[in-house]
Amino acid sequence: MSSQSNRVVIFDTTLRDGEQSPGASMNLEEKCRIAALLEEMGVDVIEAGFPIASNGDFEAVNAVAKQSREAIVAGLARATKADIDRAAEALAPAARKRIHTFISTSPLHMKYKLQMEPEAVLQAVKDSVAYARSKVDDVEWSAEDGSRTEHDFLCRCVEAAIAAGATTINIPDTVGYAVPDEYAALIAMLIERVPNADKAIFSVHCHNDLGLAVANSLAAVNAGARQVECTINGLGERAGNAAMEEIVMALRTRPDRMPYETGIDTTYITRASKLVSTVTGFVVQPNKAIVGKNAFAHESGIHQDGMLKNAQTYEIMTPESVGLNKSTLVLGKHSGRHAFRDKVKALGYDLGDNRLNDAFKRFKDLADVKKEVFDEDIVALIDDQLIRA
Ligand code: KIV
Ligand code: ZN
Repeated sequence: MSSQSNRVVIFDTTLRDGEQSPGASMNLEEKCRIAALLEEMGVDVIEAGFPIASNGDFEAVNAVAKQSREAIVAGLARATKADIDRAAEALAPAARKRIHTFISTSPLHMKYKLQMEPEAVLQAVKDSVAYARSKVDDVEWSAEDGSRTEHDFLCRCVEAAIAAGATTINIPDTVGYAVPDEYAALIAMLIERVPNADKAIFSVHCHNDLGLAVANSLAAVNAGARQVECTINGLGERAGNAAMEEIVMALRTRPDRMPYETGIDTTYITRASKLVSTVTGFVVQPNKAIVGKNAFAHESGIHQDGMLKNAQTYEIMTPESVGLNKSTLVLGKHSGRHAFRDKVKALGYDLGDNRLNDAFKRFKDLADVKKEVFDEDIVALIDDQLIRA
């Protein structure tokens, strides 16, 4: 698939980078449940773990490899034979498998973390990719800290990885340092300059340290990247990875600016978000885009009035499109008479104008002192009024 195609591959790394979120570890059964749902919703590649990291990770990658049919299952490996052997062993039963091997390429990482000279890193790229290709046909190579790598050196590494047989080239923004125009220009530069760039799919993997992971990923897609690495709910190291639900819904909602398709059935999004949140114990913040409790909730009277007339006034996508039943009109101190009347009716009361006005005043007084007014509060308020009448 070239940078000319309009299909964007969704590579989910909830089970690998997502699990690197401190406190988000998942057991084997939980990983298999999540992987099954990811496959059902149409994820193209499931990164199931880092097989050499622990026996638990090996077992999880192996179990996901056994159960998956359509999705490609990926296992992570550093640029060593031992890592690649372990990944190949874990992935052996998979119908479709990928070894994802990586090494750092930035001056900072090469000097302090790897303590290797650039030429030795370049040699490791060639050797590791060629070795992984001797085990499987589908090899992804990642330049860790790619966004802070010197351009000429990055071009040489990418060229070497493609020549050694990598079919996907991933350029991570490992520390979430890039900004959208800079990151897009980096991807465009690589596609333009590297010989045989059309032999591989360019991929992006953005961390969210500056809250730019989704914006950076989308900018890179516009520049020619055709794989996005992401996680459900944006789970991941430190501030997390690009959130899959945001990437997919942005592409779906704005085809005028981003005319690309994914294979994701978006109606699974809410279910996947809830499953990952339950399994990890990571609560989704209420105002989180797409999957937060308030993402389709409206409180202000002006907004509620608009919503009751035409939902498009305040909603750019339907709740049904992400697998939610319906939007909610939350009653609070900003709510108006119109929404209150609808709620009273839905609760089974027929009050008439005078009683309704009286109930509305009492509701406003209550809303001034209570953050959210629940159905039970309104029932109590009306029943009390009816008893006194
Ligand atoms: O953030 C990163 O650079 C990674 C790589 C291992 C792909 O997670
Ligand atoms: Zn990462």
